[in-house]
Amino acid sequence: MQKPEKHILICASFRASGEPQGICHKKGSVNLVPYLESELMDRGLDDIFVSMTGCLKVCDRGPAMVIYPDNTWYGGVETEEDVDAILDALEKGEIADEYVLT
Ligand code: FES
Repeated sequence: MQKPEKHILICASFRASGEPQGICHKKGSVNLVPYLESELMDRGLDDIFVSMTGCLKVCDRGPAMVIYPDNTWYGGVETEEDVDAILDALEKGEIADEYVLT
């Protein structure tokens, strides 16, 4: 079994019922996943896995993304440009401060 160096969680707003309800889903968080995965491949970051999750409980600041094991929480991740900025920082070993949830 391959274990990733990092794991990116994208909030897809799933609830216990299975139905997505929440701001991240409504703002298109799921639509960013194919772009995120292709960017990771293009950048050679193939030891970073991506998973969609249930509500991460920061709905008012979504769409939300979390990177583990860094425990970096991002909000307002709505566009491909937002993903690029976060991945640019990740490649440099930095944090994209403008998206960080504190
Ligand atoms: S729906 Fe994404 S944090 Fe709640």
